[in-house]
Amino acid sequence: MLRHIRSDIQAVFDNDPAARSKLEVIITYSGLHAIWAHRIAHGFYTRGWFAIARGISQFSRFMTGIEIHPGARIGNRLFIDHGMGVVIGETCEIGDDVVIYQGVTLGGTGKEKGKRHPTIGNNVVIASGAKVLGSFTVGDNSNIGANSVVLSPVPENSTVVGIPGRIVKRNGERVGDRLDHTKLPDPVVEMLRKMQKEIHDLKHEVQDLRAQAGKSQEKEPVLEGESVK
Ligand SMILES: CC(C)(COP(=O)(O)OP(=O)(O)OC[C@H]1O[C@@H](n2cnc3c(N)ncnc32)[C@H](O)[C@@H]1OP(=O)(O)O)[C@@H](O)C(=O)NCCC(=O)NCCS
Repeated sequence: MLRHIRSDIQAVFDNDPAARSKLEVIITYSGLHAIWAHRIAHGFYTRGWFAIARGISQFSRFMTGIEIHPGARIGNRLFIDHGMGVVIGETCEIGDDVVIYQGVTLGGTGKEKGKRHPTIGNNVVIASGAKVLGSFTVGDNSNIGANSVVLSPVPENSTVVGIPGRIVKRNGERVGDRLDHTKLPDPVVEMLRKMQKEIHDLKHEVQDLRAQAGKSQEKEPVLEGESVK
């Protein structure tokens, strides 16, 4: 337990340049308080004391603004920076050396039962406001960009950004240049453009035909006794 506490504090110094002294970190870092409360709650949860576990988790949420379900399995040296608005679901599993910023949700889509929350690998950064929803895995050493909504598995060493989240970097190299998802063709707009062009062409054709008809009428000699309409 003491070893865990020491490494949790060290994780703050490793990830936050603003951290100055151990005392300050212990007293003021709500992410740490939430993780410590979770360890106690998880202990009760695994022994079947669900109501007490939930009570501790809710009290911790009230104090820190971070809601970690007591069933969630969290690895070593998790660092939750700022923390407010973080939600970690019941069947979520988090590896070692993960960094989570404020406003992150590791949740379910509401469509799955049983294991319905993500599994986060080691050394993953989940930036502020990101939502990772579903029972898939985010591979080791991956980054989830701020405000992304990730709905499908993320391979190792990847950077995912956007809504829905797409991989923009893998093993340090940019990916997706050949198919820029922000510039995908819109079939409805394409069809409207086609129709617009066809109407334009038809208009010209009708104009030409009218002009030709007018000319031929002008040229046609008016026969005797025939009136021009
Ligand atoms: C994703 C992140 C972790 C960086 O990962 P990275 O692997 O170094 O990726 P890069 O910075 O090289 O960005 C790769 C591409 O994604 C884009 N990108 C990065 N973050 C993005 C985001 N949140 N939303 C949309 N696009 C994003 C970049 O513009 C870049 O695009 P480009 O290749 O067309 O120039 C970082 O951008 C991020 O979101 N950090 C936020 C940290 C945070 O929450 N801080 C809050 C502290 S309070």
